[in-house]
Amino acid sequence: ADEGMWIPMLIGKNYEQMKKQGFKLTAKDLYNANGSSLKDAIVHFGGFCTGEIVSDKGLIFTNHHCGYDAIASNSTAQNNILDNGFYAKNYGEEKPIDGLFVKFLLKMEDVTPQVEAATKGLKGAEKSSKMLEIFNTISKAAVTGPTIEANVKDFYKSNQFILFVYERFDDIRLVGAPPQNIGKFGGDTDNWEWPRQTGDFSVFRVYAAKDNKPAKYTAANVPYTPKKFLPVSIKGVKNGDFSMVYGYPGRTDRYLTSYGVDLATEKVSPTIVKLRDIRLKSWKQEMDKSVDTRLKLSSQYANIANYWKYFIGQTEQLKRLKVADSKRKEEKAFTEWAAQKTEFAGLMDQYAAIYKEIDPISVQRTYINEGFMASAWVPNAISIVRSYAAVDQKKGDAAFAEKVKTSLQHAANTYEETYVEAADKKIFAKILASFYQDVPVKSQPKFFAEISEKYWTGNPETTFEKFADYLWENSNLIKPAKLKAFLATNPSLEAVKADPGYKYAANVYAPDYIKTNFGSLVADFETKKADLDHLYLKATLEKNKGKLMYPDANSTMRLSYGNVQDYSPKDGIVYKTTTTIDGMMQKYIPGDSEFDLPANLIENYNKKNFGQYGNDGTLTVNFITNNDITGGNSGSPVINGNGELIGLAFDGNWEAMSGDIAFDKKFKRTICVDVRYVLWCIDVLGGAKNIINELSIKK
Ligand code: ARG
Repeated sequence: ADEGMWIPMLIGKNYEQMKKQGFKLTAKDLYNANGSSLKDAIVHFGGFCTGEIVSDKGLIFTNHHCGYDAIASNSTAQNNILDNGFYAKNYGEEKPIDGLFVKFLLKMEDVTPQVEAATKGLKGAEKSSKMLEIFNTISKAAVTGPTIEANVKDFYKSNQFILFVYERFDDIRLVGAPPQNIGKFGGDTDNWEWPRQTGDFSVFRVYAAKDNKPAKYTAANVPYTPKKFLPVSIKGVKNGDFSMVYGYPGRTDRYLTSYGVDLATEKVSPTIVKLRDIRLKSWKQEMDKSVDTRLKLSSQYANIANYWKYFIGQTEQLKRLKVADSKRKEEKAFTEWAAQKTEFAGLMDQYAAIYKEIDPISVQRTYINEGFMASAWVPNAISIVRSYAAVDQKKGDAAFAEKVKTSLQHAANTYEETYVEAADKKIFAKILASFYQDVPVKSQPKFFAEISEKYWTGNPETTFEKFADYLWENSNLIKPAKLKAFLATNPSLEAVKADPGYKYAANVYAPDYIKTNFGSLVADFETKKADLDHLYLKATLEKNKGKLMYPDANSTMRLSYGNVQDYSPKDGIVYKTTTTIDGMMQKYIPGDSEFDLPANLIENYNKKNFGQYGNDGTLTVNFITNNDITGGNSGSPVINGNGELIGLAFDGNWEAMSGDIAFDKKFKRTICVDVRYVLWCIDVLGGAKNIINELSIKK
């Protein structure tokens, strides 16, 4: 099948079907608790992406957009590897990336009986706290050394529990990346869309101590020798070929009810899009003014823009595909089935009731994370508020020195990296003005009404600009230079508390904001929803007994299998499975920020210098499969029936942007960069034979 993100440990159940679809290895080759298997070549990259090991020297392939932050933060206007690309010609040139890590999964183990025994008879908040406690106990027992990490994750909305044990490596170095007009070709215009011609790859390496054990960065570390690495096939792909994707999908919500879908499309997502739009426009204005500013903001701009377009597409497709309607149908059938079962009867009515409660405040609630917290100094100031709350008043200034100062120091160290005053101030004022207009005055929190009254100019925009002027001039927590000077005075608790930025942050500090403004409404909604979700899934599992049913993504390792496959986006049109460098050249716009191309790509294209990577007089760039993936899968290996790497998954397609909530078999596709194009970029354009020579290439 195509739909499904399967748990590797249980893949034996899918094996016959995989074989029928073209898989040639054994189930043990995929996952083997007692020997090496394909899973050992897959890493959780930085906790947000996937990577695969492709050589016996710990070489990692992942997406360009996964390496983006590492690449951008190692770029300066003088040594601009983001724009120009970079390939290390030897180990010595590889760049250590502070803070980056990868995790290898050692094993997984079903711990459902232990968790259920510990939480038996409990409900609501009591149950969740007991659950966290037992998760902790189980994980702790599994940690056998300083570089081993373990956690218990819940599946099917807490109807199954699995323990994961990982080995974590902290010395990860950047080995190579194409210029961003290859790695991000098509930019936001082409993002989430097919047909596509993006070279979305970058190359890293895992380093270890001399004994091959994980170690913090030191120059003496050596390339890691992995248990397993993937060979690379340059035989090419065609419609119908078997394909599987092995990686770390982040989050899906496939069992979301029609009530949840309506809330998302009507209230939450449009608010997110509007607030991100404000940020993106103001950042872009400043980024266009200087290369330094552009490099400073590129990575966070890309992240915000990626999910800005995601929510636009998701809303559009949920509506086009009438997802809420089909969920309503399923829910009706469910309600009929559940009518005779005391445990599950009336479930949908209860969903209706809790969503009715949360609906009126959902826009306001969305403003907290996507609006108020969008100004980087605010979360920083909130962490000071938190530290302040945790200071032991009796110990006075001594305790202060430890807690509040660490927070201040942290703020001073980190947020300056992305501080761009002109944009930050404008964004702050615009978001507040937007809140003023979107949320009826009578529902606005008290502190907010006070601000709008005190600074009122007759117009919301200029009112909040005036407030921003006041804060920026009078707070010590906003301008980086002032923050550092303030820190140097060793300020007292009173001085921190008297700061206007601190006062503002204390008001938007999320738990307090929610408590003072909504009482226990939000917490009640979350608890009740978790209980209902648990029951809904328990019922669904019972209803589907004997059938294979996959759980929602939860940032644990999954396997999806299917085929390379074309599709028809609308009547009369068929999208082919592959795109080529010819199509890329047709999109080429010299000097454009999204569709420019490097001169040496054009030269080699004109000479048709495709080396061993071309076919039919051209070069395949991207292809599509019907695999089931989501965010977090980015960088995942796309593997053929022989267990060889044929590409890297990097995106989804527009017509199925509703996919995280409902998988649509007709439309859902995974967009992959063909490994032949990756190798051509490294070899022919980058001249990095040293990288090519490490690989095991199957022709
Ligand atoms: N949409 C892709 C994903 O989330 C990321 C693509 C990055 N490229 C870009 N133009 N922002 O997996």
